[in-house]
Amino acid sequence: MAADPPVAFRSPLAWWRRKSLRFRLTATASAALALALAAATSLLVGVLGKGLIASTDEVTYQRARDVVALADDGRLYDPVAVSDGTIIQVLDARGRITHVTLGTDRLVPLVDAQARAATPPDGRGRFVDGSPYGLPGPLRVVVLHADHGRTVIAARSFKDVSESLATTVHMLVIGTPMLLVLLGVASWLIIGRTLRPIAALRRGAAEISGTARARRLPVPEARDEVHELATTLNDMLARLEAADASQRALISDAAHELRSPLASIRLQLEVALGHPEGQEWPETAEGVLEDTFRLSRLAEGLLTLARLDERRPARRQPVDLGELIGATAGRYDEALVKVAAVQAAVVDGDAMDLGRVLVNLLDNAVRHAGSQVGVELHATRDEAVITVTDDGPGIPEADRERVFNRFTRLDSARSRDEGGAGLGLAIVRETVRAHGGSVDLEDASPGLRAVVRLPLARA
Ligand SMILES: Nc1ncnc2c1ncn2[C@@H]1O[C@H](COP(=O)(O)OP(=O)(O)OP(=O)(O)O)[C@@H](O)[C@H]1O
Ligand SMILES: [Mg+2]
Repeated sequence: MAADPPVAFRSPLAWWRRKSLRFRLTATASAALALALAAATSLLVGVLGKGLIASTDEVTYQRARDVVALADDGRLYDPVAVSDGTIIQVLDARGRITHVTLGTDRLVPLVDAQARAATPPDGRGRFVDGSPYGLPGPLRVVVLHADHGRTVIAARSFKDVSESLATTVHMLVIGTPMLLVLLGVASWLIIGRTLRPIAALRRGAAEISGTARARRLPVPEARDEVHELATTLNDMLARLEAADASQRALISDAAHELRSPLASIRLQLEVALGHPEGQEWPETAEGVLEDTFRLSRLAEGLLTLARLDERRPARRQPVDLGELIGATAGRYDEALVKVAAVQAAVVDGDAMDLGRVLVNLLDNAVRHAGSQVGVELHATRDEAVITVTDDGPGIPEADRERVFNRFTRLDSARSRDEGGAGLGLAIVRETVRAHGGSVDLEDASPGLRAVVRLPLARA
């Protein structure tokens, strides 16, 4: 069985990706710096060397020209007097050395005959090794031609220049890596500092999953991207917390609502079983049945809300609201519920859901009405408006929004026996919203008017 290669050797790319962001940023920055520094250093050395050669050649050429001028004027003496250390050899037409500077070789020319002949008279310098002539280091040599076939050879030592150039290169070779290390350490520290808020964010998030208290991430002071990220995440946490709280409240409310019919059923059955003799069983059964109705209505309402919460796309089919209102209102007492002013209006939606909206509103109206409940349907250019009006006690302005919440019943209704669980209006609002409409409660003085607006189906 062949052993797998160590993870690090499988793929350099995978290895690189597994490294921390801090490491990768520092390494990338250092590599880029190293390249830039290397390029800058070699450019500097190149330019410096060229410049030094050019200036040495310039001086040498000037001296050679001076000597050529003297020779042409016939004012050349031996030894040739040149003050700045330039070495001069003057050769006659036959190649013999006739004049030199003090201490210069009189026998061997610095440039041999062949090379002299090949030298164009433009004063361009060349390197010559000085050691055969007892001169230390390389020389820059310029060859010029004078009258009567004479040749002037001028040379300057390049030793000092090349030594200082070498020193510069040495310093750069040692200094540049040191600078690189320094910059690398600095970027490691700076990047670490920059990433610190992210680490704090991560720690904060880890604590949140661990504990239930204060579920907020630390927000850095700097107004930067991390600040924005932290604020956005905190907003999200707040929304999740709110959703969580309302979910919890819903569960406790639902449990609370379940308790009373269950207690009532239990009590009735206990009493009946405790005194079986002389017990009116049909009466007991009726009481229990009523409570089970309440239970099943509650379960129905919760299921409907759960389905609406999931926002599953409602069935979309053309629904004739006039027909729907006629059919729904027909189930109520004709003397109490009056349908008036029905205009033609068709909306896109789920007939069952919209029917439930009407039933919930009519149930409420009938339950609270004095003597009349009116249902109307109007159609404007782009929406259908259904109103259900009763002449009951109405709802105080301050409570008209609150009653749409789940399990919200007003005290006046709570005292009545026939009141439901308080899910009716919540279901109405969710359903109407799912159909792209809105529902509001208004004062009908006396009584209450529920106004449902639904967008008309596009023809
Ligand atoms: N037409 C109305 N007149 C006066 N008060 C109303 C009317 N409709 C609703 N309310 C008040 O608003 C509350 C909430 O109504 P909602 O329909 O949501 O619940 P419910 O009727 O009590 O119970 P459910 O509809 O689940 O059987 C009612 O308890 C009642 O106090
Ligand atoms: Mg109701």
